[in-house]
Amino acid sequence: MNYRHRFHAGGPADCLKHAVLAVVLERLKAKPAPFSVVDTHAGLGRYDLLSEAAQKTGEYKSGIARLLAAADPPAFFAPYLAAVRSLNGKPESGGRQPLRWYPGSPLLARLLMRPKDRLVLIELHPEDVRLLKLEFADQMHVAVHHADGYLGLKAFLPPPERRGVVLIDPPFEREDEFAKLASGIKRAHRRWPQGI
Ligand SMILES: C[S@@+](CC[C@H](N)C(=O)[O-])C[C@H]1O[C@@H](n2cnc3c(N)ncnc32)[C@H](O)[C@@H]1O
Repeated sequence: MNYRHRFHAGGPADCLKHAVLAVVLERLKAKPAPFSVVDTHAGLGRYDLLSEAAQKTGEYKSGIARLLAAADPPAFFAPYLAAVRSLNGKPESGGRQPLRWYPGSPLLARLLMRPKDRLVLIELHPEDVRLLKLEFADQMHVAVHHADGYLGLKAFLPPPERRGVVLIDPPFEREDEFAKLASGIKRAHRRWPQGI
């Protein structure tokens, strides 16, 4: 396992993925019944964009930094951008939006979910699992599992709520990743056809 998401956090791929996730969560909140989010390859809760890793690639500069600075971003990005802003505080009068913290999918989901909704996080890297557990230590309705995300599709689906979304976001390091992804999606769909 060489892949570390801290080099890529907030880059253009994260912006698209996370904006879609935010829109799905907003739609799920249109109904009062609770839902669950299962994140099979969770990574970290939050990323420090001033860290050496983020500064080395600078991917966030052409991603979230550019979107936050846009004068009139498409409405589609509104819930996602609101969540990122909420982590970074308000700009000083007339100044630029401060940007240091970037939410990974676990924290983005948590920021947009309601207290009654449930978050299941699965991650294989021991250091990320440790930090995830710290990030969500005092949170009800958030469970962190040190496991293979594809096994999580078996273990955690269907969720008791019967409504919700699964995010499968592997690092694509393994040669068989696409085959595992395809069989994982088939399995998830068999177990939970209503799941998103
Ligand atoms: C692309 S990153 C996840 C980014 C995160 N979903 C986000 O959007 O912020 C992929 C993550 O999968 C983890 N990983 C790799 N193989 C895994 C596996 N078999 N099961 C669970 N996690 C795995 C890596 O340690 C890495 O943190």
